[in-house]
Amino acid sequence: MEMDTERLARLEDLFKIKFGSTPQFYARAPGRVNLIGEHIDYCGYSVLPMAIQQDILIAVATNNLSKINLSNTNPQYCDFSNAVHDITIDTTRAFWYNYFLCGFKGVQEHLRLSETVGMNCLVDGNIPPNSGLSSSSALVCCAGLATMAANQQTISMKELAEICTKSERYIGTQGGGMDQSISFLASKGTAMLIDFEPLRATEVSMPQGAVFVIASSCVEMNKAATAHFNIRVAECRIAAKVLAKTMGLRWQEVVKLKDVQVAQQVSTIDMLEMVEKHLHPEPYSRREICSALELSNTQLDSMLLSQNTTHVQSFKLYHRAKHVFSEADRVSKFRLACQSVTGQGDMEIGFLCPVGELMNASHTSCRDLYECSCSELDELVNICLKSGAVGSRLTGAGWGGCTVSLVPAERLPAFMDSVRRGFYEADPGRMHNLAQHFFATEPAAGASIVKHYPTAN
Ligand code: GLA
Repeated sequence: MEMDTERLARLEDLFKIKFGSTPQFYARAPGRVNLIGEHIDYCGYSVLPMAIQQDILIAVATNNLSKINLSNTNPQYCDFSNAVHDITIDTTRAFWYNYFLCGFKGVQEHLRLSETVGMNCLVDGNIPPNSGLSSSSALVCCAGLATMAANQQTISMKELAEICTKSERYIGTQGGGMDQSISFLASKGTAMLIDFEPLRATEVSMPQGAVFVIASSCVEMNKAATAHFNIRVAECRIAAKVLAKTMGLRWQEVVKLKDVQVAQQVSTIDMLEMVEKHLHPEPYSRREICSALELSNTQLDSMLLSQNTTHVQSFKLYHRAKHVFSEADRVSKFRLACQSVTGQGDMEIGFLCPVGELMNASHTSCRDLYECSCSELDELVNICLKSGAVGSRLTGAGWGGCTVSLVPAERLPAFMDSVRRGFYEADPGRMHNLAQHFFATEPAAGASIVKHYPTAN
């Protein structure tokens, strides 16, 4: 695959200065933009992301000191060193290297090696952090891949995706696997439908004559820093159990909302009716949930909540479940709509509209039912639509971060200009490093190991 040789050469030089040797190899893992299917991966449903060009690149050389020595090309991130057999992830503080340690530990545990080799690593990232483009997962994945290669082991990309999905949870957030799966399974030029259990990635061709544009709301979002994300995960889990029990299903076996649908053998649209019938829009109190599920408070905490959500007293089950089932339905419709636009081989904007409308409906649902938007994201979505996008929505976890918009190629220059004037110039703080957080993107390749020394070419 093509690599930015200048970047590799620069990294090689910095590595030599830092560690006094040449890197043995480089590992690379991309960030992602999710086109549709938000907050449904951890409910068992398929999502539709694509990898972006921005990535984490790590230069690696093994050492015989049984130590991980980590450094980052960004001086904002401090050096770190740790013995390979004594990895503890201190989640009380947001250390950048915790994400590296997650990937390292995941692969170390999977391989069950008697001795994991020591590694000197220089990390270089160009994914804007805290922006909903998965910079953290890319670091977890890249570290996992580097650890595998340093130990001369082979693990399939699918397995690595599953390992890194689990091990990123050492951070404390209970993500669903979309970010790690697309980072490993992406291929250049195509978005992917990612199915879970079993994990599978299927290419989805994007409409011709249209471009996806990523725009940051300039509100930082770090899903590990607040309980928002885990609260949603908990609400979905509880909704699944309560729904299953009320519907007379084997609710003890149900974990995810998709399990309820599978047990009932109906469509996602039918599930929306079930939600109407069996759940109430008013928030559920702890007491109501405990009595519905015949659980004590302590059992509720240990079975369905996580460390940072045990303080929560009320849970919105109806709204969250409605979002999940309707969003799962939009993912299948989006895929079909893309296929029919591609089939037309037509550049007419009219054909793009159904795809765009699904993105708009997804944003509305994230905003109103899942409550994971914020005023800046809503404002940006509106400006993007007024500026010529046929669809626009928040992407990633939300509560800040980026939007993704579908823009007909012929409108792209006018669109960029209008959003720049309407959103970014309105607040001088937003103009900082604009090109890095407002750009058109194309589906990029998935994670890989680069073995060649740039200077040897
Ligand atoms: C984060 C998580 C993903 C997914 C998205 C929301 O990126 O890591 O697993 O849940 O949020 O769609």
